[in-house]
Amino acid sequence: MSEKLVIALDGPAASGKGTLGRALSDKMGLAYFDTGKLYRAVGMRMIDTDSDFDNENDVLSATDWLVEHFTPELLQDARLKSDEAGVGASKSGKYGAMRSKLLELQRDFAKNPQNYLDEHTASGLHGVLLDGRDIGTVVCPDADVKLFVTADIEKRAERRLKELQNNGVEVTYSDILADMKARDARDASREAAPMLAADDAVVVDTSEMTPADALAKSLEIIADKAGITIE
Ligand code: DC
Repeated sequence: MSEKLVIALDGPAASGKGTLGRALSDKMGLAYFDTGKLYRAVGMRMIDTDSDFDNENDVLSATDWLVEHFTPELLQDARLKSDEAGVGASKSGKYGAMRSKLLELQRDFAKNPQNYLDEHTASGLHGVLLDGRDIGTVVCPDADVKLFVTADIEKRAERRLKELQNNGVEVTYSDILADMKARDARDASREAAPMLAADDAVVVDTSEMTPADALAKSLEIIADKAGITIE
């Protein structure tokens, strides 16, 4: 396996891409970066400072704050998993200037993942996997393999409902479906780096797949595209 394998994993919310990204990274020995966490951290900062998502300067200040204070630990904040942070991320991510501020950090991780990991985790890495919305199109356009993971919106809403209910959050299916439609529309229709499958991405539709199926299918695609054998 090449030392510098770069895998781009894009797709909409609750498509199964986070679970898949972590499973692929474990299996293949890749450094995993959930780039949505960066956008979520900006969204959370906006909320914490009572800022206005319609004011680009507020979003840029929150982004500057994140870049200045960035440490991998900052992305471990449990609040970043909330829907509130996800919506804040999506609202913040529509500004092109904001996205540019996060670009360097993401590209630096792709190039120098060892700088973001402890020595033990960094040793023996075979490459990196970045998960997001514009990894294959903007952040790592030269990635060795690009996967675009998707699923029917109803399936994604069902998955999110189960996840939230398991965490004791009271929500209805119709609210989740409506939120997901709004989030998809915002992410896909923004002018700056919209969520889009790169021309050379392989689409993995997980609507009828278990996480194990999605992993097996993706490993097959990666082995084929990168010309490698994965044990
Ligand atoms: O993957 P996620 O649900 O954690 O992402 C939250 C939001 O952040 C998503 O709705 C859009 C935004 N995002 C983005 O614009 N670009 C990325 N590379 C990752 C996330």
